[in-house]
Amino acid sequence: MWGGRFAERPSDIMQAINASIDIDKRLWREDIRGSKAHAAMLAAQGIITKDDDAKIQAGLDQIAAEIEAGTFVFDIALEDIHLNIEARLTERIGEAGKRLHTGRSRNDQVATDFKLWVMGACDGAADELRSLQKTLAARAAETADVVMPGFTHLQTAQPVTMGHHLLAYVEMFERDFMRLSGAGGAAGDGCPLGAAALAGTGFPIDRFATASALGFSEPAANSLDAVGSRDFALQALSALAIAGTHLSRLAEEIVLWTSPQFGFARLSDAWSTGSSIMPQKRNPDAAELIRAKAARLGANFAALNGIVQKLPLTYAKDLQDDKVLTFEAFDTFDLCVAAMRGMFETITFNRDAMREAATRGYATATDLADWLVRELAMPFREAHHVTGAVVKRAEALGVATLDALPLAEFQKIEPRITEAARALLTVEHSAASRDSYGGTAPVRVREQAALWKERLADED
Ligand code: ARG
Repeated sequence: MWGGRFAERPSDIMQAINASIDIDKRLWREDIRGSKAHAAMLAAQGIITKDDDAKIQAGLDQIAAEIEAGTFVFDIALEDIHLNIEARLTERIGEAGKRLHTGRSRNDQVATDFKLWVMGACDGAADELRSLQKTLAARAAETADVVMPGFTHLQTAQPVTMGHHLLAYVEMFERDFMRLSGAGGAAGDGCPLGAAALAGTGFPIDRFATASALGFSEPAANSLDAVGSRDFALQALSALAIAGTHLSRLAEEIVLWTSPQFGFARLSDAWSTGSSIMPQKRNPDAAELIRAKAARLGANFAALNGIVQKLPLTYAKDLQDDKVLTFEAFDTFDLCVAAMRGMFETITFNRDAMREAATRGYATATDLADWLVRELAMPFREAHHVTGAVVKRAEALGVATLDALPLAEFQKIEPRITEAARALLTVEHSAASRDSYGGTAPVRVREQAALWKERLADED
């Protein structure tokens, strides 16, 4: 394969560690696109003949058809997708095939192919996220007035609405969407093709033509950067890692909510698994695996970052492992997003259980403190103290919720507390009263859910 320089073939183990064809065969479409653009440019520049270009174009189309049909034989001895396709081209069209590699190298070729792949993958992943957001926003609209406990430190804090809780994730996934779109955009800047091995080429190539033919905004302005950089992939992997963290947090909530102890939600049969020994079990395996796989998304970013950070310019074979990490990350991500969407399409919420849980832990105590501030002009710190004493009293009397505590008990602590104040201390009232912009009140949640519905539909 290396022509005149070598007399002996590589050892089997050398081949096993060195070859990437099993992984990078996935770049075949991008590789053929890149080669077609390169050959057309070489012909337009008079570097190869029009006749050679015509043969190359037809040959590459036939190879694409072979790969599509599953008849193409990938050969590990030919290392990677680039050499596999080039060798087959020469087998099919002879001499002309051997001219294709003029003015390029596998270094600029692989960087170009990989950037094209990452662009497409970012678009695909962003679409997946959009579908998940739509599902969550629809569920949020349905649950705008479903009261549940809001937590800090996983301790009951204040009543919130499930719609509000779900829309929090829609916001998080929106930022993930923006990060992924940004990563796709970064991959589309700076076409590496024509940077050749690392230094550019003396052939009169037209890099602007290939860049634009392949959908890049411009050719990469520095050939060393073009073949040696992978920050476009790191940007994509970091976007996936962060989005994975958000998926994992939501998955963790599903695990909690579906436990008998919480009992807030139930996954449909299609999204639950049973136990081989305990007949009563309904396990949230998909959510648990999303949690596990999110850790791997972070690891994929860390692994590629670790590979790149110790490489002097420019290309080193270490960079070949960029693809396995990136392909795996996108596959994992797409699967996790689809599973999350599937779970939320059919999850059912138990309103009564959530309401009941919201009443536990004196979740409406802040509402009493706020009333004291509003109606009695009491300083908040003092109101906090008075309310604390009321909670202590309720606890001592074994009364579970403040709205059930007799008025006389309130008045022993603060005689100016009225029946009207006591009536405000239900969880429904508490949630409804938090109607500031961005707050949990059903009116605000309905507004936000409607905005999301509109915003997410606009893009179709
Ligand atoms: N399979 C290689 C990779 O993915 C292609 C580039 C090889 N270049 C080289 N000089 N060996 O990185």
